[in-house]
Amino acid sequence: MAAKGGLNLILLGPPGAGKGTQAKRLEERYGIAQISTGDMLRGEVAAGSEIGKKAKAIMEAGELVPDEIIIAMLSARIARPDCANGFILDGFPRTVPQAEALDVMLGEHGLTLSAVIELKVDDAALVERIAGRFTCATCGAGYHDVFKPPKIPGHCDVCGGTTFSRRADDNRDTVAARLAAYHRQTAPILPYYAAQGRLYSVDGMAAIDDVTVAVERVLSGVEA
Ligand code: AP5
Repeated sequence: MAAKGGLNLILLGPPGAGKGTQAKRLEERYGIAQISTGDMLRGEVAAGSEIGKKAKAIMEAGELVPDEIIIAMLSARIARPDCANGFILDGFPRTVPQAEALDVMLGEHGLTLSAVIELKVDDAALVERIAGRFTCATCGAGYHDVFKPPKIPGHCDVCGGTTFSRRADDNRDTVAARLAAYHRQTAPILPYYAAQGRLYSVDGMAAIDDVTVAVERVLSGVEA
């Protein structure tokens, strides 16, 4: 299916499914922008902005930030020049109203969706993935204690940084709330995209490299 305005993708899946991991690889491989609404919100919280003040407690509780805040933020983001060749949405849409708003936004920008890729992962695997996750505090490269440790312990593979951080919402209680929010509010958008003929499912339980191969196989059939 050819898409107007480049390769425009959605990566869907529960917390810890590997959306951010795969989105970064797609960004490099296809030269398109990764748009993570979670990263954008964490940036707002760190900056102490009005959006950040509203979002902080909601995120720490593992609940979803109100649709109107997210939709306005995303609409401004996809209008930026780095999205001209396309984009990967990582963490958006997360509710049916967000999916409907995205369709309107894309129509306004003269764009269409290339594919919606669901990363399917068992709930039981997610807590371990999230509990082991950390990032380089200097460049943001992502790691995992077991599945993706730095090649030299304590040193970032990308920039050599030696300071790492873990997300405030990556604790067991919050992960349970985030998973519940996924099943209650986000999973219902799967049939929305299936009905549009744009939904592809990939086994997110496979090793990281194998998931990348499976995603690229899907994209070879849909590239603009
Ligand atoms: P967000 O930042 O989007 O978090 P999330 O959806 O919970 O997803 P994660 O970032 O936790 O996981 P991921 O799928 O990217 O996995 P990763 O690649 O890191 O959202 C945070 C919060 O912001 C939300 O709770 C909400 O409050 C708010 N928010 C954001 N967007 C919103 C929206 N649209 N509407 C409303 N609220 C919104 O992988 C996890 C770990 O596993 C890593 O360590 C990785 O190395 C490892 N790993 C990855 N793949 C594999 C594999 N195949 N095998 C083994 N290990 C793997």
